[in-house]
Amino acid sequence: MAAYTRSVTLDGLSGRPIEIEVDISNGLPKTVVVGLPDTTVNEARDRCRSAVVNSGTTWPDQRVTINLAPSSLPKSGSHYDLAIALAVFAAKHLIPIAPLHEAVFLGELALDGRLRAIRGVLPATLAAVEAGYHRIFVPEVNVPEAELVEGVTVIGLRSLRQAVALLLGEEEPIDPPVPPLDQPQTMTWTGSERLANLDLSDIAGQDEARLSIVIAAAGGHHLAMTGPPGIGKTMLAQRLPGLLPDLGYTQSIATSAVHSVAGVLSSDSPLLTRPPFLDPHHTASPASIVGGGSRAIRPGAMSLAHNGVLFLDEAPEFASNVLNALRQPLESGHVVVSRAAQTVAYPAQFQLILASNPCPCGLSSAVSNQCECTPLMRRRYKDRISGPIRDRIDIHRNLTTLSRPELANALSTARPTAEIAPVVAAARKRQTERFRETPWTLNCQVPGVELRKHWPLDQHARSLIDQQLRAQKLSARSADRILRLSWTVADVLGHDLPDADDVDSALALRGSMPLRGQLRELVQGS
Ligand SMILES: Nc1ncnc2c1ncn2[C@@H]1O[C@H](COP(=O)(O)OP(=O)(O)OP(=O)(O)O)[C@@H](O)[C@H]1O
Ligand SMILES: [Mg+2]
Ligand SMILES: [Zn+2]
Repeated sequence: MAAYTRSVTLDGLSGRPIEIEVDISNGLPKTVVVGLPDTTVNEARDRCRSAVVNSGTTWPDQRVTINLAPSSLPKSGSHYDLAIALAVFAAKHLIPIAPLHEAVFLGELALDGRLRAIRGVLPATLAAVEAGYHRIFVPEVNVPEAELVEGVTVIGLRSLRQAVALLLGEEEPIDPPVPPLDQPQTMTWTGSERLANLDLSDIAGQDEARLSIVIAAAGGHHLAMTGPPGIGKTMLAQRLPGLLPDLGYTQSIATSAVHSVAGVLSSDSPLLTRPPFLDPHHTASPASIVGGGSRAIRPGAMSLAHNGVLFLDEAPEFASNVLNALRQPLESGHVVVSRAAQTVAYPAQFQLILASNPCPCGLSSAVSNQCECTPLMRRRYKDRISGPIRDRIDIHRNLTTLSRPELANALSTARPTAEIAPVVAAARKRQTERFRETPWTLNCQVPGVELRKHWPLDQHARSLIDQQLRAQKLSARSADRILRLSWTVADVLGHDLPDADDVDSALALRGSMPLRGQLRELVQGS
């Protein structure tokens, strides 16, 4: 007696449909799971046995083989339970087989046969639809995220009994609703919604720092801010999300899928339409920042920030393995997490914002300069952000303390977010139009060689960069970053091509030099 059902296995975010075969044969009573299951899947055997027994039938008193095919794909997680239990019912001829084969089943079972919420329903549903399945059964609480996918009928279930009744066309039992997933304690962050109402004009003075945030928002550039405590670094970073436009549909789905796998998607409004803002604390575990975990592998803050912002406040205080782990996503846009037998890649294309104090005590650039740190201490502190990472950050800004009169005067003049966000939006529109026929949408994504080839600067502007290269003040990679930044400056100012002043501004933004002219007026009110 054999029967099979379908489920989906996830590798990172990419899913593949799998067949779950159950064979009941004569022999000593024993249940085995085969087909590359890990320990989390092996536990399904005991859960399914209890759930089946508590849902109106007996567990076969024979040899039961549960095969997850193809056996070449590693299987992990607890979401195969529903498909396994239904295959047992089908193998016992208790439910019709035909409707099972057109559908995909996802869900973990409690011992009493009720379903539990699971992680990863969104990417699993995407994979099922892509593979040609158009009916999917999921725990009731996961229905809204499955319904984000077009072209699929989603059936929400509360229990195994209900699934059986539904497949038999019988009256469905009324079970209590499926509770949502427990939120992992380690995953706390501010989130962009809570920052939506913070305004750029709250920040007194600090024109150059405010301008740096605006340029970063316009071109998607990474930004590092250094300055003494209490000067407004955190305040500035928290005002970045307010300048960013909504995510496009593809980005929304991609980011929501990462949050789904992490188990942090809200069941009320599963589609993330705003860029995420992740600000993990430096004491958070490396696994919660980079990705990992002791049982199943989960994406960390770096991946949850996909298509949004990763803000590392007090950056040098982070563990060095966390800081070093930044290199890979900055280069490739994804994070690879390895555990004993498993390696998983998650997307991680984020805009990095770093805030640091200049030295361990933080006072060296304060007006009073009471710092007693030695030059060596300062050097070591700075070097915690390694050269290769610092080099990938386009905009560097040193903040200095404002004097009291400056604070008092400046407050009234800063332009509010409501006036600056449209400038950012217009600059981004210029970029999408320029890169219409290309895979890129923002200046920060375009390889330098492509920029030079398709959108060459004029002689004068180019010579500014060449001079710096010749004087060995810039590496070739830095020169590309200057080029991208020059384009963003031009886009913000509405220039069709970066001129020499724009290149000059880009050099100033990268080297934390004073900013001048038209650009500076952008953030100053009248
Ligand atoms: N330029 C400013 N305009 C208005 N308020 C400011 C400014 N700078 C600092 N503040 C005030 O100081 C507080 C501390 O600022 P913030 O937390 O951003 O500093 P920080 O640079 O991140 O300091 P730390 O290095 O200690 O984290 C803010 O909540 C705000 O009230
Ligand atoms: Mg701070
Ligand atoms: Zn110091």
